[in-house]
Amino acid sequence: MTFTETLGIQHPIIQAPMAGVTTPEFVAASSNAGILGSVGAGYLSGEATRDFIREVKKLTDKPFSVNLFVPEDVEMNQDLLRQAYLGLQPIGKRLGMPFWKAPLSESDFDEQVDVIIEERVAVCSFTFGLPDETIVRKLKDHYIYLIGTATTVEEAVLAEQVGMDAVVAQGKEAGGHRGSFISEQLVPLEELLPSSVQTVDIPVIAAGGIANKEHLELQLSRGAAAVQIGTALLVAEESGAHPLYKEAVLAAGGNSTVLTKAFSGKSARGIRNEFIDMTASVPIAPYPYQNDLTKKIRSEAAKLGKPEFMSLWAGESVHETTGGTVKEIIGKFL
Ligand SMILES: Cc1cc2nc3c(=O)[nH]c(=O)nc-3n(C[C@H](O)[C@H](O)[C@H](O)COP(=O)(O)O)c2cc1C
Repeated sequence: MTFTETLGIQHPIIQAPMAGVTTPEFVAASSNAGILGSVGAGYLSGEATRDFIREVKKLTDKPFSVNLFVPEDVEMNQDLLRQAYLGLQPIGKRLGMPFWKAPLSESDFDEQVDVIIEERVAVCSFTFGLPDETIVRKLKDHYIYLIGTATTVEEAVLAEQVGMDAVVAQGKEAGGHRGSFISEQLVPLEELLPSSVQTVDIPVIAAGGIANKEHLELQLSRGAAAVQIGTALLVAEESGAHPLYKEAVLAAGGNSTVLTKAFSGKSARGIRNEFIDMTASVPIAPYPYQNDLTKKIRSEAAKLGKPEFMSLWAGESVHETTGGTVKEIIGKFL
């Protein structure tokens, strides 16, 4: 059976899960366009994940996936947290909030896994690590197809070993957070994809900078079972990205993205802006604490219409984006 047959989709394309950007309309529009829609559930509670899934089901009867952030044990260093908070204050002041509350988040990962099982979601994907064997077995007992994320061949091998059915090879070009969990190497997709395909026996999905039909065909010719597309789709009418974020993505030229840890504590690629420049040399708390510290800043910046202080996640092919509906954008890849 081919990868598309296994997943019950028409085209070998996955709409990248994008936490904070995906809406039920966006995911359903992707699935209805014949690709695999994906819920970016990383920041959601168990209950919010359930509500989101039910909304998607109202809009499509096609398969879709739910993506989770695998939690890590991170030591909380109060002193570093305080320094990171102080480092953000110049930005807070620019937004009229010299002080702000930053409640620390807690992961609902286990509850989300139960919700995915109860709601009989077809596919569950993971980033920032791999679930343990008990969770893998639990999901597989319910016939849920599992996809891991790897940024190196070593991570792809671990994904296969733990029982993932497929793995996303996320090249350095990719927009948003790096899924790295062993090392923070920046491997270009043209290297990562062929070496992963050669090394593991599970299907490999190519991600990072795929912006048109030629890119897609190239990845398939290199052995990819499918491609995962983020940046090209985040500007779609149905996407939940802030209008100013979409505007910035559509207007961006080549070489406008950089990697930064300043928004969340984890390395992520986005359009370079004042936030990134102003935090270039301040202390950064580890994920998820830095993310908690900057949450209010980013929401205030969005409210005030100041993209210079928002996280504008985008991949290296950001200059190739064009607007339209999900269906219209996907049409350009076929
Ligand atoms: C706005 C945005 C949010 C993202 N959020 C997630 C996420 O929640 N989970 C995940 O596995 N990957 C996430 N990614 C990474 C994508 O899955 C994918 O690797 C990437 O978009 C591919 O590169 P491209 O943006 O150049 O197409 C995100 C990417 C973007 C652009």
